[in-house]
Amino acid sequence: ATRIFSGIQPSGGLTLGNYLGALKRFVEKQDEGIETVYCLVDMHAITVWQDPARLRQQTREAAAGFIAAGIDPARSILFNQSQVHAHAELAWIFNCVARMGWMSRMTQFKDKAGKNSENVSLGLFAYPALMAADILAYKATHVPVGEDQKQHLELCRDIAAKFNNDFGVDFFPITEPVIEGAGTRVMSLRDGTKKMSKSDPSDQSRINLTDDADMIAKKIKKAKTDAEALPGEMDGLADRPEARNLVNIYAALADMTPQAVLTQHAGAQFGSFKPALADLAVSVMSPITTEMNRLMQDVAEIDRILGEGAVRADAIARPIVNDVYDIVGMIRSR
Ligand code: TYM
Repeated sequence: ATRIFSGIQPSGGLTLGNYLGALKRFVEKQDEGIETVYCLVDMHAITVWQDPARLRQQTREAAAGFIAAGIDPARSILFNQSQVHAHAELAWIFNCVARMGWMSRMTQFKDKAGKNSENVSLGLFAYPALMAADILAYKATHVPVGEDQKQHLELCRDIAAKFNNDFGVDFFPITEPVIEGAGTRVMSLRDGTKKMSKSDPSDQSRINLTDDADMIAKKIKKAKTDAEALPGEMDGLADRPEARNLVNIYAALADMTPQAVLTQHAGAQFGSFKPALADLAVSVMSPITTEMNRLMQDVAEIDRILGEGAVRADAIARPIVNDVYDIVGMIRSR
């Protein structure tokens, strides 16, 4: 049976990249009637220092953002990672399955650690093993993510295969990454070669789920572009990363292919394409922002939803992790 798992870090608010690359697609999978488990990965977030009060606030805000975007806590399981202990337990086992060499090759670790890897947390290095545990604690078959998570998902497959092989079992599935659509790599509005990120120092580089309509429109109108008109074919965008990014964003927001956007706007200058994109972005994002802010008025209700999701998640993950203990040779006598 198909089971979808995915997660988002509640470190910093959600961006348009998170929305188009992940959240919007999470909603689509739920609405297709697939079993969906979605997790706010607070334990991943603390691999770099988080202010405790802000972490709590951002976890609730992310939960509100999910619900505002269309995640229905009755149909999807929505919870924060630390409330389901199976994640941490399985992560330890996977720390003992994964190899140092595999982890050392993770480009995201190398980017985040920079030259001074002596001074980053051990958790940052082990991060992908926890991520594999998130997925495999549910024996998830499919994981929708943005392009930047591809290497981590390959590692998850390697861990599953090595565990199965080491213990001579056919226990964990080899999970399929699901990276599809025009929004899987949304780039910075200031630099079309960098991905849009909550950690970029420039707020102008991204659209946040908390931005109001004026702010969204302003950021899009100020986005970096070139002086050429839009071409009629995708080939014409090959050396124009900023232009290509805006076309991709338009396509993802409108549920069109990038080629269909070009067919519609061929010959248009950015002076007219940007206002059209701004209108589209505002019409999609603003209702979500408004609903998210409304939901944030009742924090107790958000916490209740996360707790209930955690109970349902635990009911799936607990027996799977208990089986893992048996396979590995741990005594369970209580
Ligand atoms: P995170 O929190 O960085 O991002 C959450 C999701 O948003 C996608 N994303 C983007 N997609 C398109 N364009 C962008 N600019 C962009 N920025 C982010 C990410 O690809 C991701 O799908 N390690 C993960 C969280 C995680 C996870 C998991 C994911 C933990 N455990 C298990 C899947 C399964 C992360 O840091 O994502």
